[in-house]
Amino acid sequence: MTTTNDEIRKTIQYLRSTYLVTPSYQKLETHFHSLLEQRRADMADGIMNNARGIVVVGQSGSGKTTAIRELIRKNKSLLKTDTMQDHCEFFGLQVPSPATMKFVGAATLRALGYPYSGDKQGPAIWDQVKVQLKLRQTCFLHLDEAQDLARYQTDKERQSVVNTLKSVMENSYWPTGLILSGMPDLKKIVNQDPQLSRRLYPVEIGRLHAIRDVTPVLGTIQQYAKRAKVETQSSVRNEVFAQRLMHAAGYEFGLMAEITVQAFAKALLSEGFDAKLGIRHFADVYYDRSSAIDALNPFIAEDFARIDTRKIFEFDGADK
Ligand SMILES: Nc1ncnc2c1ncn2[C@@H]1O[C@H](COP(=O)(O)OP(=O)(O)OP(=O)(O)O)[C@@H](O)[C@H]1O
Ligand SMILES: [Mg+2]
Repeated sequence: MTTTNDEIRKTIQYLRSTYLVTPSYQKLETHFHSLLEQRRADMADGIMNNARGIVVVGQSGSGKTTAIRELIRKNKSLLKTDTMQDHCEFFGLQVPSPATMKFVGAATLRALGYPYSGDKQGPAIWDQVKVQLKLRQTCFLHLDEAQDLARYQTDKERQSVVNTLKSVMENSYWPTGLILSGMPDLKKIVNQDPQLSRRLYPVEIGRLHAIRDVTPVLGTIQQYAKRAKVETQSSVRNEVFAQRLMHAAGYEFGLMAEITVQAFAKALLSEGFDAKLGIRHFADVYYDRSSAIDALNPFIAEDFARIDTRKIFEFDGADK
């Protein structure tokens, strides 16, 4: 009995840690490899060319943060990434709030392990950031939730954000490639300045399409089923089911994967490896996430397409 429970726990853990490779992930990795190769070549030649970067854009739940985590995990052998070591070629942090240049600079310094005392102004802090980036040999700096850099800012402040970001990539002292990820508002900051947008390769995690993505979504469920060694009922193998799932996930890929993993976990925890994954498991997961009554549960309601699933998440507090 205990062995089975252990196996179930391990299987659920395995499903949770499975990363599904998507076309946008592949695009991200291709850009990353070309940036890294260029960087290595420049360093070998002793050249300090201006660096380039990547901007990853997608709605909440699309999978931006997870994609970059996977990128770094998978490419660990190509990078020195131990933040405790002197050299760390990749650093990542979440843009703090409020996202003034001073705050962002101070947060970056702290992430770089530099004891920051809060009396300097924005430009001086960023000068220190650049010194630290060189000392740590950081080739890539990832700022997550970068759409916040544009929030509540005047045009002038927004321009100073853009200038600061450019100066991190464009300087003869130690250019660092930026990886910015965030919600679609981030596009506005990047497009505000042609010099910045030219330096950043765009990767967009698009939304799922109710017709085009039926087959890939059903395929995803079968991929997980194979990994879980759990069978599926016909109720989760048809077109309308795929559409219910996409709708429940707000048409975001990451949320779709997350709900699917939770449905497998529910099936495994209640019925063990004899479970057959069915639409009921998905309906229960949706209920757990939203407390929605059946008429507002896209896995139960007949006319599911009219349900505003985003609103339900907000009501639940999960989207704040
Ligand atoms: N390729 C993938 N394979 C499997 N699961 C994924 C994948 N991408 C995302 N997920 C899952 O989707 C969920 C949401 O992903 P993530 O947090 O990366 O979204 P996000 O775009 O960063 O959202 P936010 O803007 O709210 O921060 C997570 O539970 C994550 O595990
Ligand atoms: Mg995120």
